[in-house]
Amino acid sequence: INAPIQRKVAIIGSGLIGQNWAMLFASAGYQTSMYDVEPGQLQRALEGTRNQLTKYEQKGFLKGTGTAEEQAERISGTGSLQECLNGAFYVQECVPENLELKQKVFRELDALVGNDVILASSSSCLCASMIADGLAHMQNVLVAHPINPPYFVPLVEIVPAPFTSPDVVVKVRDLMKAIGQAPITLQRECLGFALNRIQYACINECWNMYKTGLLSAADIDSLCTNGLGMRYAFIGPLETMHLNANGIKDYCERYAQGAVRVQEETFHQIPVLYDTPTAEKIQDDWAISLPLQKLPERRAWRDNMLAKLSKLKSDEKSA
Ligand code: NAI
Repeated sequence: INAPIQRKVAIIGSGLIGQNWAMLFASAGYQTSMYDVEPGQLQRALEGTRNQLTKYEQKGFLKGTGTAEEQAERISGTGSLQECLNGAFYVQECVPENLELKQKVFRELDALVGNDVILASSSSCLCASMIADGLAHMQNVLVAHPINPPYFVPLVEIVPAPFTSPDVVVKVRDLMKAIGQAPITLQRECLGFALNRIQYACINECWNMYKTGLLSAADIDSLCTNGLGMRYAFIGPLETMHLNANGIKDYCERYAQGAVRVQEETFHQIPVLYDTPTAEKIQDDWAISLPLQKLPERRAWRDNMLAKLSKLKSDEKSA
């Protein structure tokens, strides 16, 4: 992917995720055009991205090349889908998570784009084969799933459909790296993709430990933020095994027996999250320190902390 300044990407849907993608592409020099159907939304999105970029610049969190002003200038908005797509080599769809809506949007895109244009969906759980099967350009369609907030959490799950061209998968992977993201490629579509499988496995045991009265809600989260999470921002579970013994094989020889006993004896129950009484109890516990009205403030704090972590990680990488 060459000379990004000459190249244009189209963002379909200018909400939370669309704006984050726009800032990421603009940071890497791409001309970025946002399209939306909601009157007034584009204006909010343009102001929103400009304000965010300025704030990030002031705090030292701005990514990529150029000033916040220069990056904001690379982002434009239009209420015409055709105009948004004109000259774009890559389209990132970011409309709400609704199958019929996504199918409709992809039909519209399919009718307007040329044969070389890549069409990626930001979908969190709908697969490309559900959204784009049978379209004329379906070989160019895949899912590129970001993690909230994408500007500071670089992972992107690339999930091709059986009909997606392998060449498109490689190109999207390269493009994600070019904008500073960290792509992983699933070899096939599956329910929940990959991140949520791990996340749900983690939630399962948190729920079970809470429900059986082993730990308080605060202590369960402390276990992650002060324990596992300290490692996992830098070292994943497999490398942890590798490091905590003399390699993975040695780890398994030393710890398999203990691990298998824990797994067999404690991992029976897959909790049912429809269990409203438990959900209410956990929420009540949390509400002491974090009542619902304080969630926006806490989200802003979270994004600030993730920004600092993201900066630390990129400083470490370039050191
Ligand atoms: P959002 O509701 O903030 O934004 C959606 C935007 O799409 C709105 O501005 C809406 O006006 C616009 N829209 C609706 N119909 C449209 C159409 N036909 N054409 C163009 N624009 C249209 O939603 P959000 O959170 O940005 O999510 C977008 C996608 O990203 C969803 O598929 C979601 O599952 C996925 N996603 C969301 C994450 C999150 O944490 N919010 C994380 C990762 C992925």
